[in-house]
Amino acid sequence: MTTTAIAPTNIAVVKYWGKNRNWERYHIPNKSSFSITVGGLYTKTTVTAEKSTGGERKVEFVLNGRIITPEMKEYEYVGKLLGKLGELYPHINQYDIHIISENNFPTAAGFASSASGFAALLKALVKELAEEIVELREFLDDDKKLSVLARLGSGSATRSIPRDGGFVLWRRGISPFAEETPENVSEERLREIIFSSYAETLFPPDHWPGFRIIYTQVDEGGEKEVKSRVGMRETVKSDPFYYPWVEYDEKILLPEVIRAVKEKDWELFAKLAIQASNGLHAQTLMTYPPITYLNDTSHLIMHTIHNLNENEIKAAYTFDAGPNAVVFTLEEYVDEVARVLEEIVGKDNIFITKPGRGPYYTEDHLQ
Ligand code: PMV
Repeated sequence: MTTTAIAPTNIAVVKYWGKNRNWERYHIPNKSSFSITVGGLYTKTTVTAEKSTGGERKVEFVLNGRIITPEMKEYEYVGKLLGKLGELYPHINQYDIHIISENNFPTAAGFASSASGFAALLKALVKELAEEIVELREFLDDDKKLSVLARLGSGSATRSIPRDGGFVLWRRGISPFAEETPENVSEERLREIIFSSYAETLFPPDHWPGFRIIYTQVDEGGEKEVKSRVGMRETVKSDPFYYPWVEYDEKILLPEVIRAVKEKDWELFAKLAIQASNGLHAQTLMTYPPITYLNDTSHLIMHTIHNLNENEIKAAYTFDAGPNAVVFTLEEYVDEVARVLEEIVGKDNIFITKPGRGPYYTEDHLQ
């Protein structure tokens, strides 16, 4: 058998940054996050699973036409994910897994691929294995549960799982201050905690028809960035403002962002989106030694947008763990905003899109 799934990337408005200190292995976040599913940027993944014929189970992985070998980072990440899935559902370990994955955007372009990559992998893998492993069938119609399995691969992938896509909330689940640890809870409670943090669509993609998203590529492919999973660990460890920031975002900013989207209050949304992004980058600066993800071009984009917004709010920027700006705007401003951004990064380094649907199987698409 073979199963192919397509999963979109997503852009966080309220950011995920930092794992629960006792639950790092299971990628349980310290804060909830809220993202927009991105139309037109996706990963397509085909998984073939076959019962192993003895000896060690085989895992083969081809990413964007390149064979990923065991000493490569990507192989390690997939291996870790399969290891955790195998602990929860041991039958999985009896299958050889063959994965072919393609992004429809250049990975080097800095357009995050771990979200769409792990979401597409989980979506395809679970269906492929559910043919044979009965316990996995409950995931086929339960996106909240499936989002938990994607989370075990990469945090941001959690938010690329709800099939309705659109505006997605990933709940943090167990409190960052809980005393429970994987070692001191029962098997039943362990599963309950693992499944306490999941994603769901709050508003479908067509909720806000005029909403637009502009991706810019600022990255010159220069020096290597601190990977998000390393950067966030350093922040949790050394930033004295980390937990106050987490609780501010959780209790005040996040509910306000959700309200702004619900009411399609553009001015409020734009202001909060900017503050949410700058909150993350303030924390990376307060990390010691400090981490800077933004470069001069990123700062130029920020200033340019604030100038553009002087009399009327036309755009809002957000940045993840890298210098590329993602800019939110509305249909009526999109041409003007794109023109301004093109002047900075060049015409070829811009991609304009909208909120999109969630993942699906290619066979569903044909039906
Ligand atoms: O799950 P990761 O390792 O891709 O971490 C994502 C972290 C940010 O992109 C910076 C924020 C987010 O919520 O996507």
